[in-house]
Amino acid sequence: MNGSAERLTRFLRTDEVDPAVVTRLLARARELERAPISDALRGQVLGLLFLNPSLRTLASMQAGMSQLGGSSFVIQPGAGSWAIETELGITMDGDRPEHLREAIPVLSEYCNALGVRSFGDAVDLASDLNEPLLSQIDGLTNKPLINLESTTSHPCQSLADWKTLDDLEIPTDGKFVLSWAWHPKPLPLAVAASTLTMAAQRGMDVTLLRPDGYGLPTALMERASAAAAQSGGKLTETSDQADALEGAHVVYAKSWGAPRHYGDPGSEATLRAELRSWCIDESWFATARSDASFLHCLPVRRNVVVADEVLDGPRSRVVQQAGNRLHVQKSVLLEMLGD
Ligand code: CP
Repeated sequence: MNGSAERLTRFLRTDEVDPAVVTRLLARARELERAPISDALRGQVLGLLFLNPSLRTLASMQAGMSQLGGSSFVIQPGAGSWAIETELGITMDGDRPEHLREAIPVLSEYCNALGVRSFGDAVDLASDLNEPLLSQIDGLTNKPLINLESTTSHPCQSLADWKTLDDLEIPTDGKFVLSWAWHPKPLPLAVAASTLTMAAQRGMDVTLLRPDGYGLPTALMERASAAAAQSGGKLTETSDQADALEGAHVVYAKSWGAPRHYGDPGSEATLRAELRSWCIDESWFATARSDASFLHCLPVRRNVVVADEVLDGPRSRVVQQAGNRLHVQKSVLLEMLGD
């Protein structure tokens, strides 16, 4: 765990950060929202490597570094940069001429901190739960490292969501429902796992609402359970929508793939085909609190994951969440690189 007295050198999961540091990061993010421009990181460079696409993460990291007086560069393999091989021990006679083993140390020569997005290929669940790609990257750089979404964690999103809950003055013991939603294809587990852990870390009464077959892997549930045990929060899991949504302060929607069919979308298709009704519309809030908020990390497919009436209505906080990415990431950068 990253302690409160030492400088933060890794931001890979929110539950690996000392609670006192999380509190400090959130407090500084609020200050940065009020006073966004400074020279605190003048002359410093943030390297950004995106092995997977992005809109919010890429733009907010670059904007944040610029607002702090620093600069950044972006590498998107295959889009103007060499395609990067990540497999170890491979004979590189295919179409990827650069290996991560050189790319990460080389980029580290050019920057003061490095941010990397690395979902992986979602082939082998047992392996992915150990984050082999992020671990490989971690071992290849001696610079501060920010996880911009890996296989099981998206800490920048979760810290922004935590700030959003604070901004909305949602009680720390309020009811937080993370609901699975339908999507045409299986999506990664990172945001679901990270969100569940964040809400548990905040001390909330957390419910994982998902159809049968879409429970999160045991290791990820245990991570959230441990966070709840430490904070005094609660964690339950159900497929009963009425039970889950009653009295909810927050409904956070996200889709993810069925763990049993991980890496095999074809075999999951039958299970998924029956679940199109898991599109969140206003009727889902009938027994929630009247002022219940709707959250989603974005991007979101309208009228597939969530209905227009919710996304465009007063419950929706999705733009505020995305806006908070800027403030919390600047806070992380200052914790890593500031005086
Ligand atoms: N929520 C999020 O991380 O968005 P991007 O994938 O666009 O970066």
